[in-house]
Amino acid sequence: MKTSAKIILTTASLLSLVIAVAHAAVDPTKLPPASKKTGVTFDKDIKPLFEASCTKCHGAEKQKAKLRLDTIPAIMRGGENGKVVEVGNSAKSLIIHAASGLDADTAMPPEGKATPLTAVQLGLVRAWIDQGAK
Ligand code: HEC
Repeated sequence: MKTSAKIILTTASLLSLVIAVAHAAVDPTKLPPASKKTGVTFDKDIKPLFEASCTKCHGAEKQKAKLRLDTIPAIMRGGENGKVVEVGNSAKSLIIHAASGLDADTAMPPEGKATPLTAVQLGLVRAWIDQGAK
């Protein structure tokens, strides 16, 4: 093979590696498990958690990434990149991936800007989504 062809191939494989890393999604098996609690509701269980960690940037005053997390309809509308909740499937929900902090690029809240959800709190949000996000 000619040297120039080798260089092109090496560059191409490096580029695809960079693209793969940039798109690295969260491995759902690494997420904290969903809580076993039944009858989880937004008003009772989830809203207080989001108020403590999220709504100063995703609420009435500010809507970072065009996302509001203070009412169910707003959460279902999602943000500038689309849906953040897959009802019934927390393992595939962007909001869970983001709040888990497993992917440094999408970790929420942004580091040092608010208190992250604990594993137990995240498990409760997972249970809420898995139970239909009522
Ligand atoms: C200090 C402000 C701040 C706080 C607090 C915060 N976020 Fe964010 N959020 C942002 C910003 C800014 C973005 C836009 C992406 C970026 O710049 O990283 C964003 C983007 C997102 C997105 C992606 C939306 C899209 O459509 O791209 C999700 C999901 C999200 N945040 C969820 C949360 C959750 C859940 C919490 C609480 C656990 C939270 N955020 C707390 C500032 C914040």
